[in-house]
Amino acid sequence: MPTILGIESTCDETGASVVVDGHDVRSNVVASQVDLHAKYRGVVPEIASRAHIENILPVVRESLENAACSLADIGAIAVAHRPGLIGSLLIGVTAAKTLAWSLNKPLIAVDHVQAHLYSVMLNHAGAERSVAPDFPAIGLVISGGHTSLYRINTWTEITRLGGTIDDAVGEAYDKVAAILGLGYPGGPIIDKLATQGDAKAFHFPRTLLGRESLDFSFSGLKTAVLYQVRGVPGKKRESSTHAGVQQSGTPRSAAPDSSITHTVENVAASFQNACIDVIVKKLDRAARKTQARSVIIGGGVSANRGLRAALKDFRLPVHFPPMEYCTDNAAMTAGLADVLLRENRTASLDLDAITYSAIR
Ligand code: KG4
Ligand code: ZN
Repeated sequence: MPTILGIESTCDETGASVVVDGHDVRSNVVASQVDLHAKYRGVVPEIASRAHIENILPVVRESLENAACSLADIGAIAVAHRPGLIGSLLIGVTAAKTLAWSLNKPLIAVDHVQAHLYSVMLNHAGAERSVAPDFPAIGLVISGGHTSLYRINTWTEITRLGGTIDDAVGEAYDKVAAILGLGYPGGPIIDKLATQGDAKAFHFPRTLLGRESLDFSFSGLKTAVLYQVRGVPGKKRESSTHAGVQQSGTPRSAAPDSSITHTVENVAASFQNACIDVIVKKLDRAARKTQARSVIIGGGVSANRGLRAALKDFRLPVHFPPMEYCTDNAAMTAGLADVLLRENRTASLDLDAITYSAIR
């Protein structure tokens, strides 16, 4: 029953977590930097690494306190060493190596993308265990940095089937939120607004990239939203259908046809509907091609309520992480490290931080 301390610092969240047996999350501390990056509407790498330096030790201390354990109780130190922002990764990797060396405990190197997939296995300590997916499974990681499909034979044998050729889906959510003048990160805000809008109000494109492709593209969808909201560049706005989008059903006072009101909610719902359609279609294709027995979805966008509802009756069992383990966290790092430790896959103290995933 190894007790593993996990460390996460791949992007803009500093996380530390204590997980027992690869399932039971005793603590999961995440210091979010959202407020620091919000005014730039995206993550600024230099600001992120400086904040990781400030946060890492308090976060580790808090995670041990919350788990009611000391460093002496920890059996191994796990760190997400890839993929991510190099300056951010280095802080977590350095902290993990220092702890492993000074405590003389094994160091375990975890791929953050692989850990997002593993997050479906996590549960609060004492709660009922999550149901393990049947393999082979289709894996889908949807986040701010990734939109990729995988074939999962075991938690450590994963091959990539396809991925985005431009924007990640979470990135599209964040950019559309910026276009609409909403906050950052955009995903949760759009997800909420979408429930109040008409998903058929605007027909945005669903880019499928040919009949068999398992790749994704979201930049056309993002541009379509931009043109809908701001108008097509160089083209005069002739009709009310190209009028700007307004907040919450506010009537357009100067508009020629006040019966047409374009709300932010309608754009959010129509955009989200287009994203979901594409994701469901690609999962369907992957299911046909791989004869998989289940689907595993992880990453920040897996928190999306519209997507969860759309996949309720999918033809394979679909496994989502508990809500708190969708976005970046160290519990998934410590959880997957348990599997790696059992396979004796420990890392040496010259472990590098790497910007790309091993299963890219
Ligand atoms: O996994 P994550 O925390 O970080 C990366 O590894 O990228 O994912 C963050 C992304 C952001 O783009 C955020 O807008 C999106 O996940 N996100 C959502 C939702 N919650 C977070 N997107 C859609 N619906 C949500 N409910
Ligand atoms: Zn992530």
